[in-house]
Amino acid sequence: MRLFASATGLLAILSVLNTSVGAAPTKSGFEISWEEAYAKAEKLVSGWTLEQKVNVGTGSGNEQGPCEGNTIASPGFPGLCMNDGPTGLRRAYNTSQFVAGINCGASFDRELTRQRGAYMGEEFRDKGVNVMLGPGMNMLRVPRGGRNWEYAGEDPYLVSAIAEELVHGIQSAGVVTTSKHLIGNEQEENRYTVDTVMDDKTLHEMYLLPFYHAVEAGTASIMCGYNKVNGTYACDSDHLMNTILKDHLDFKGFVMSDWWATHSTVNGVNSGLDMTMPGDANADSVTGGGLWYGKNLTDAVERGDVSEERVTDLATRIVAAWYKVGEDKDYPDLRFNYFDSNVHADLNVQRNHKENIRAQGAASVVLLKNEDNILPLKQDSAKKLAVIGSDAGADPEGLNKCPDANCSRGTLTQGWGSGSCYLPYLVTPLDGITNRVDDSVEITHTFDDWNLESAGKLAADADIAFVFAKSDSGEMYIVVDDNPGDRNNLTLWYNGDNLINAVADANENTVVVIHSVGPIDMNAWIDHPNIKAIVWPGLPGQETGNSLADVLFGDYNPSGRLPYTIAKNIDDYVADVSPELEVEYTEGVYIGYRHFDKNEITPLYEFGYGLAYTTYEYSKLKVKTKKNSDGLKLTDTLASASLFVENTGDVDGNEIVQAYIVYPESADQPPKQLRGFEKVFVEAGKKQKVNLDFTVRDLSYWDVVQQKWVVASGEYTLLVGHTSLDIRQETTFTL
Ligand SMILES: *[C@@H]1O[C@H](CO)[C@@H](O)[C@H](O)[C@H]1NC(C)=O
Ligand SMILES: *[C@@H]1O[C@H](CO)[C@@H](O)[C@H](O)[C@H]1NC(C)=O
Ligand SMILES: *[C@@H]1O[C@H](CO)[C@@H](O)[C@H](O)[C@H]1NC(C)=O
Ligand SMILES: *[C@@H]1O[C@H](CO)[C@@H](O)[C@H](O)[C@H]1NC(C)=O
Ligand SMILES: *[C@@H]1O[C@H](CO)[C@@H](O)[C@H](O)[C@H]1NC(C)=O
Repeated sequence: MRLFASATGLLAILSVLNTSVGAAPTKSGFEISWEEAYAKAEKLVSGWTLEQKVNVGTGSGNEQGPCEGNTIASPGFPGLCMNDGPTGLRRAYNTSQFVAGINCGASFDRELTRQRGAYMGEEFRDKGVNVMLGPGMNMLRVPRGGRNWEYAGEDPYLVSAIAEELVHGIQSAGVVTTSKHLIGNEQEENRYTVDTVMDDKTLHEMYLLPFYHAVEAGTASIMCGYNKVNGTYACDSDHLMNTILKDHLDFKGFVMSDWWATHSTVNGVNSGLDMTMPGDANADSVTGGGLWYGKNLTDAVERGDVSEERVTDLATRIVAAWYKVGEDKDYPDLRFNYFDSNVHADLNVQRNHKENIRAQGAASVVLLKNEDNILPLKQDSAKKLAVIGSDAGADPEGLNKCPDANCSRGTLTQGWGSGSCYLPYLVTPLDGITNRVDDSVEITHTFDDWNLESAGKLAADADIAFVFAKSDSGEMYIVVDDNPGDRNNLTLWYNGDNLINAVADANENTVVVIHSVGPIDMNAWIDHPNIKAIVWPGLPGQETGNSLADVLFGDYNPSGRLPYTIAKNIDDYVADVSPELEVEYTEGVYIGYRHFDKNEITPLYEFGYGLAYTTYEYSKLKVKTKKNSDGLKLTDTLASASLFVENTGDVDGNEIVQAYIVYPESADQPPKQLRGFEKVFVEAGKKQKVNLDFTVRDLSYWDVVQQKWVVASGEYTLLVGHTSLDIRQETTFTL
């Protein structure tokens, strides 16, 4: 009898995904070009009165339903329904909870990310929701930042790649994306009033880069954030919305305010804000109330403070976005109510989406440590397993008992706040492990984090002891265990450090599993000699137990990589959440590994780090360059590299090949920057060729005087490696 149950079905799915990198999204055909969309929109809007044009940019009011945000209809246009959010359709039953954004980053997997977007888009469309409030693409600048888990990590190139795939995926399913939050919204503390100050180089090279990519991918809307930037509210900023987004990035869609982030009528509209959300006519907590658009805007036009042309423009942008993703044809009726989740709860729109969630869950598990090759679990040494910690089980109160995930009981699959969504079901880590073995394996467990003695006893009695712990965070309107959105600390929650030590003291084959929103401080136990493996599954959504088991039992050879740096000491990070009302990004572009590289600080686990059950060798790195003539666009390829990756171990695997560029000194860039990556499936003993293309912008710096991207002349070094510090091949080229 075999020890472990079969996972052939899953392997089949994984191998399809593994071998079709770069394939088309699962569904397309809804989207049309901006030119066509504008032609249709201009025609429709030309027949409208001033008031009808104003209405499509006016929110119909907070808590007026049926969606989180709604706009008013005009002839031939039904008005839009907008809803969160980036991990699934918020407050809807019978929908999926996908892996979190930070796991998309950890997967370094473009195809699974695009598929996640397409599947999520299908669920929004099936329920009749027009606009998804996502993807989120702020930067993990401060490790304690509450919403980091909604985004894709500390590197703007990685965040850009993920955002681009999500925009393509979601819009291919016929749903408008809202790329957010423009810009500098990197902490929750004081987010409604804080003034984020950053220089122009940092703005373009670091925080704006994902917006370039989202716009190029066709994002049909962009959300301006709550905070101020350089003294002006983002949703009031002519510089950000008109100059940067609409002129410089040539953004064709509409700019929507975050909820209550509008601060004026005339200035907002003239600065480029197209839609105000939620359009609260009553008093509210943030701005003190006000229906900024509606009659106020009509009056402003009649007074001559806003031109009618500008109102025609905002209406055209909104209607064009709706045409762009094909919502004018056969769009399903709204079968969803944000204020009453029981409405249409039985409309099940999950299709086969759990396959993507499981596959991306497995693909985003980062294996941090694996001594003595304790993983994958082996038949002869894994007869008795102990599973310890509340993070391995379900919320004892039941599924979805905490609105917006406002408590943290049971295993952590997502953070809290507007970015959260319901679980349709949950495969806990304990379930996942239990389902994977047959009767010959005994599994004991405890979910009590505080009874260290009983945890130790259980551990002592097992061949392998799994100890689970977590660290949670979320949005500032909810306080969980005294954490006001941003985390109070970077240590584990609920006695995690003590629990890990108690288990490790008792069992020399201890495997630590951490579900975390971001980096944590592991100093309390990192050097414990009995901790043989550390497994880092991030926030994997509803299939968490299955995707974890896929890695633990070797059905999936781990390929996940850290999308952020884990420091030895938390003081090694360059920035932290600030209580000041003005937060200056004084470190400039030096966040994450850029800071560690520049200051030669050795991290505990570097950006891009992650182990596998096999080894890879790199060879024959070559680069070809094109002539950088004026004819090249920023998105055209300027240099192409190729190399070979050989799987020198015994099992098939996916390697994440990472390409870092070292620029000529005159470009004033960090020591190196990620500018390419490729996930490549390599069979054991075989070799694969990998190609990496670098665009003109990838090899440029932002010239603040000329206000454009410039390729510095001189010698460039291309570093290709397994992580940001484990560089395997190196070559130079001259531009
Ligand atoms: C903020 O101010 C700095 C310094 O004056 C300037 O370089 C930069 O362009 C401004 N940034 C934005 C986003 O306006
Ligand atoms: C116009 O805006 C003001 C200020 O926000 C608000 O008090 C007022 O209710 C609005 N008027 C209308 C007609 O919505
Ligand atoms: C999900 O839909 C099924 C029928 O498709 C229904 O029986 C079930 O109650 C729904 N779940 C929830 C939480 O409403
Ligand atoms: C979560 O929200 C519910 C409903 O508003 C409330 O009753 C409960 O006290 C909240 N829990 C926490 C931990 O804030
Ligand atoms: C850090 O915060 C968590 C969650 O509130 C708490 O459980 C833990 O005890 C805190 N750690 C320290 C060292 O205070």
